[in-house]
Order: sequence, then C-alpha cells, then structure tokens
Amino acid sequence: MKIPETGRSKDELIAEMKQRKRADADWRGGKTWSLIYPAGEDIDEVLREANNLYLFENALNPFRFPSLREMESDVVSMAATMLNGSPGAGGAMTSGGTESIILAVKTARNRARENKGLDKTELLAPVSAHPAFAKAAELLDMELKQVPLDKDLRCDVAAAAALINDNTALLVGSAPNYPHGIIDPIPELAGLAAEHDISFHTDACVGGFLLPFVEKLGYEVPPFDFRVPGVTTMSADIHKYGYCTKGASVVLHADQSNLRFQSFYYDRWPGGVYGSMAMAGARPAAPIAAAWAVMNYLGEQGYMKQAQRLKQTAQQIREGIESIPELHIWGDPFISVMAFGSQSIDIMAVGDVMDDKGWHLDRQSGPNALHMMISPNHDRVAGRFLQDLREAVKAHGKSKGKEARYS
Ligand SMILES: Cc1ncc(COP(=O)(O)O)c(C=O)c1O
Repeated sequence: MKIPETGRSKDELIAEMKQRKRADADWRGGKTWSLIYPAGEDIDEVLREANNLYLFENALNPFRFPSLREMESDVVSMAATMLNGSPGAGGAMTSGGTESIILAVKTARNRARENKGLDKTELLAPVSAHPAFAKAAELLDMELKQVPLDKDLRCDVAAAAALINDNTALLVGSAPNYPHGIIDPIPELAGLAAEHDISFHTDACVGGFLLPFVEKLGYEVPPFDFRVPGVTTMSADIHKYGYCTKGASVVLHADQSNLRFQSFYYDRWPGGVYGSMAMAGARPAAPIAAAWAVMNYLGEQGYMKQAQRLKQTAQQIREGIESIPELHIWGDPFISVMAFGSQSIDIMAVGDVMDDKGWHLDRQSGPNALHMMISPNHDRVAGRFLQDLREAVKAHGKSKGKEARYS
C-alpha cells in the first residue's frame, strides 16, 4: 500500500472509519471484559473535552507548556497521597502500566548497580506477574526468575526467599495480578526484600485506583501500598480503574531521590541538554490533561461510588458463576478481576459459545480458564451475561481449539 496520490475528503474518511469500526468489539454494550473500563457517559464527556483541548501539544518539554507540567505534577502528587506515600514520595506519569513497570525495573537495576556494584542483575517476579516484567528484563538486560505460586495462586514467599541471591535487584508482587485477580502477600514479600536490601515493586496497575476507595468504603483491603515497609516503587494505571482514556499511568517512588535512577540525561550532541523521565521522547499531552480532568471530576467520592458499583456487580457475577455446579472461580480474587474454570466440562468450549453470543472472554491456560475484568458499566449486563453463561454450560459442543491469547 502507498499513501494515496491525492487526498480524500474528511467526510469520506470519517464514513470509512465508522464503517471499519463496525467489526470492533462492542464495548459500549458491555460485551468486552478487559481493555476498556467504561464508567459513565458523563465521564466520557469530560475525557473527550480534556483530550480535545490538548490534542496538539507535546509533553516532551515541560518548559514550553507549564500547564502540562503543573497537571502532571498534580496527578503524581494526588496518586502518591492516595497510595499513602510519605511527603518524600515522588514519581512521573507514563503511557501505561508497561512503561511504569519498565521504569521501576530500571530504577531497581541502576540502584543495585550503584549501591552494590552489581554488573549482572536479576529480577524475581511471580509466575502470575504481568508480561511487562519479562519485557523489562529483556530490554534492560536482566535475568527474570519466576517465583512459583502457592496453592492459593499467590506468590510463594518461601520460594521467593530461596531464589534470592547476590545479584537480585528487585522483587515484585501484584495487587492484584491480571490472570486471577489475586493480591500477593505484599507485606511478607516486601519484608523479605528489605531484609536483603533489594528493591520491591507493588504492581498496582489494576488495583492502584481501586483498592484505596474500597478501603475508604469500609471494606478490609490487604496491605499493598507505601504503608508497607520495604515497598520502594509502585505502578498504578489511571487508564484502568482511574477511568482515564488510554495512555495514562503513574510510576511512584517511596523516596523521590531514587528518581535519578529512572531518569535519562544526555548532552553529548549539538541539541543541548536532553533530560527525560520516560521511555518515549515526544509525549502526547492529552493523557496528562485527561488524567488530571477525570481525577478532579470524580474526586474521592466519585471513585468510591464507582468502587461500590464494581463491588456489587463483581459479587453478583462471582455468586452467579459459583452457583453453576460445573464451574468454579480460580483462587479467591479480591474484587473485579477473576478467572473461572471447570473440573467436569471443557471451559474453552463454553468460551466458544459465549463468543457466539457476542461476549468477549479471554482464554487462559495453566490453569485453563475464562477471564473477566469487570467495569462499573457491567452492572447493566451482569444478569444477561449469567443467563447466557448458564445456557453455554448446558449446551456447548467440542472446543474449537482457540488458543489462550492476551494481545
Ligand atoms: C497487573 C497488571 N500489570 C501491568 C499491566 C500492563 O498495563 P498496560 O497494558 O497499561 O501496559 C496490566 C495490564 O492489564 C496488568 O493487568
């Protein structure tokens, strides 16, 4: 394909894009269980306007656009307070969970290099940790060692202890993890890391903007944030349960003096000093504006309201699944992310029927499961989903052999 010889009209292009979009997942209808986190039309409107206002600016140079610098600093500061960082905590906005994780891993690697004189470094992450840690290890030339899970599908602390050696730079736990929605034993893992003077990262990409508000609602939440001694960095995605449009996450440091291990400076070229906290060079401004806008629009009360909605829907769905004799939930997921499987029927074949009914459930392997990430707007479709699931369990054929696939 090549760029067309002559341009086409805007109307024609928009019409074609709308036509192409018809084949995309119907997330507005509540039929997708990951990727997008719809929470309300009013929130969508705020996001639309904030994105529009900053569509063309570039967040690479904060001196040109002081409004962006202020908003980014507000977002980071609000997130650090939300996660109980001390006044000495700090961080930066990134494009998403993966970038936050890569930067946290880089911080741990460079800190271990400087403090311990390490040349080769290793990172320890549970088998259930997000692939972003494996990606970070590959990019940063570190060795990833996977920690097995215990019988409850949580990171096995004794196994982690056995894997620590002189080259270990970082230990990781999730709050919660993606595959099963389970929170790892963060206090035990972070304590272990502190004992060995290694960095510890809580991956709260999913839980960072959810667990604090569940706690504020009065529910018990396992310790996971900067109140836990030994936690040195955290990631929390605003574009998940912060309800922002894509491209917004924060990486936070318990001690902001460690930001120097995250940052990159270069001046050996004619262009002058080039300093950057991120993986990217030019950075879109719209996610910063959208994150700032949605956090201020919802406020703590708004996030608590969404957390309550989510909790009720997740409970309804979990109880509905558990009431189907052939099915069971894997482990004890904390709230809104869960995976279910079966001892007696082929869960992948159930997934095929659900596909035919228009529900997009991701498949997982080891253990075989169908995966759900619930959003507030799923409260409208939970009943219909459970009815379809009951039918799919009763009347499914042979599995079509679709593989487990995340992206
Ligand atoms: C627990 C966890 N960590 C990290 C990530 C990576 O986030 P992103 O896809 O925004 O890079 C995800 C994504 O789903 C996740 O669930």
